[in-house]
Amino acid sequence: MRPKVVAGNWKMNGDQAFSRDYIKSFKASWDSYSLKQYSGLSVFIIPPAILIPGVQACIDDSDLDVLVAGQNVAGYESGAYTGEISASMLHDFSCKAALVGHSERRALFGDTDNIVIDKVKQLLARGLGPILCLGESLEEREQGLAERVVKAQLEVVLDTLEVSECALLSLAYEPVWAIGTGKTATPEEAQAMHEFIRQIVADKSVELAEEIVILYGGSVNSANADSLFRQKDIDGALVGGASLKPDEFAEICHLCGRS
Ligand code: 13P
Repeated sequence: MRPKVVAGNWKMNGDQAFSRDYIKSFKASWDSYSLKQYSGLSVFIIPPAILIPGVQACIDDSDLDVLVAGQNVAGYESGAYTGEISASMLHDFSCKAALVGHSERRALFGDTDNIVIDKVKQLLARGLGPILCLGESLEEREQGLAERVVKAQLEVVLDTLEVSECALLSLAYEPVWAIGTGKTATPEEAQAMHEFIRQIVADKSVELAEEIVILYGGSVNSANADSLFRQKDIDGALVGGASLKPDEFAEICHLCGRS
């Protein structure tokens, strides 16, 4: 049985007061949904880097079984890289994972495939799990290129890794046209792409394909999450906007946990 994972990407939102209020409310919702009952469910909160220590402290204080991850990581180990945050720094602040190749980083900050590979390697070297984001733009989908784009984004990373290195790797399919737009892929569209992605992984290792967690992201909310989670190759969600509301995020975790 693959684990189920729900990750809340706050993107560039929140501050210290928000973090405190958020964790307090999330703890209340966590208890009311009895999220502890879902032993196969892992929940990640992914705040902006500067908020990570504060969020982690609030999680520790409220005895929540929630993990913290980074939104990004440097593709270098250490040194003269002003403004960057290394995998060992994330590790030092108890992060267990980080997003890599999010479409916003690819589109706005020049994260190329080669940079994505460097970031994945830095995380793996520190024992952190890369959550590798994949997804096509609307234009690419309309031109019938969705599968080709996603395959290329995935294979370029898989080709650089040994199967044994992939144990900590997870994937997130986030069609760019569904991010922050209120448009979700239908459960069938999402399932078809997840199955396709799992098949690409199977071409490398059938065992790895069985084990690898593939999240769906793009306008996931408490109203559409259930039908997505019912799809056999969707193992959870990477949630943006809806993760900023702790009660809604907890409901999505509940829907995933019971699926
Ligand atoms: P939204 O849920 O706001 O569409 O964002 C998805 C996303 O990009 C998560 O990483």
